[in-house]
Amino acid sequence: MKEESIVKNYELLDDNIIDNTIRPETIDEYIGQSDVKENIRVFVKAAKMRNEALDHVLLYGPPGLGKTTLAFIIAHELGTNIKTASGPSIEKSGDLAAILSSLEPGDVLFIDEIHRMPRYIEEILYPAMEDFSLDIIVGSEGNSRNIKIDLPPFTLVGATTRAGDLSSPLRDRFGIINKLQFYSVEELTDIVKRTARVLDIPIEDDAAFELAKRSRGTPRIANRLFKRVRDFAMVEGNGTITLDITNEALERLKVDKMGLDNTDRDLLLAIINRFNGGPVGVEALSSSIGEEVTTIEDVYEPFLLQMGLLKRTARGRVVTEKAYEVLGIPRKTD
Ligand SMILES: Nc1ncnc2c1ncn2[C@@H]1O[C@H](COP(=O)(O)OP(=O)(O)OP(=O)(O)O)[C@@H](O)[C@H]1O
Ligand SMILES: [Mg+2]
Repeated sequence: MKEESIVKNYELLDDNIIDNTIRPETIDEYIGQSDVKENIRVFVKAAKMRNEALDHVLLYGPPGLGKTTLAFIIAHELGTNIKTASGPSIEKSGDLAAILSSLEPGDVLFIDEIHRMPRYIEEILYPAMEDFSLDIIVGSEGNSRNIKIDLPPFTLVGATTRAGDLSSPLRDRFGIINKLQFYSVEELTDIVKRTARVLDIPIEDDAAFELAKRSRGTPRIANRLFKRVRDFAMVEGNGTITLDITNEALERLKVDKMGLDNTDRDLLLAIINRFNGGPVGVEALSSSIGEEVTTIEDVYEPFLLQMGLLKRTARGRVVTEKAYEVLGIPRKTD
């Protein structure tokens, strides 16, 4: 029986299917981010009581913290449809016009990576967000005219990893602006346990806690590590995720006790060994470790800053005392 159920689960567990099954659908299933969640609960309720579209929402924060998930939850709680687009994929004004004019009253339009939308597209969004109207130019040069189309009231939900890259006219048009925070170990433990429950894979409490501790405060990473640890549990154990299996799997995946991976360590070591601990500019760091500047800034730095391993100063990045300690490198005194 045991054998059978492991096989059954295994077949089911194609990664994409997993991602869709474990994504929470309602606000109650969404773990953590309590301030953001409670605000959204109130605003959604008020909008429904007034029978109006929810004000536009901007969600920002490092990758994998649940921005997309939250956008879908907002639509779910509003009881409306959601249409999705991503900033860089909207190239022509007609693309945006087509999406906007397909919306039904109260719908959510989710634009991911909204900071990467071209400026001329952004300008079409301004009147759409403000007055629910679309001003477009039709016809060819010499024979063109402006037409104004009324849109149904809708809610734009924008997501970005870089709120700083958003132009201020765009940012100012969002009535609700929420920053997502890294998750606590306790919250991530709940997320790991929830994932295990949804996928029907047994996990011991201390294993869930260990996984959570090593997931860089990020649900996406927790779920990704969960899947890999599950593989070890199936192949080398009896299917149950234990603390021993978790430790062994994470060691093989080169995820250390704090959740730092190879790139995190390379980054800190580069600053220490090649730039004498810093300060170093992000461009120099980028060419030194062969990672894009935006990847360093959006993916790696936020967590290292949060953990107190790195500091940003006016003159560049500096590693902290704690980083030397964690990496076990004696600090040079000269
Ligand atoms: N609060 C949460 N509770 C439970 N699971 C969560 C939560 N937030 C995110 N997740 C899980 O983490 C995964 C990543 O979340 P999501 O795709 O929403 O992140 P994101 O912020 O949109 O990332 P990106 O910036 O890369 O687009 C989701 O598949 C979901 O299963
Ligand atoms: Mg996303």
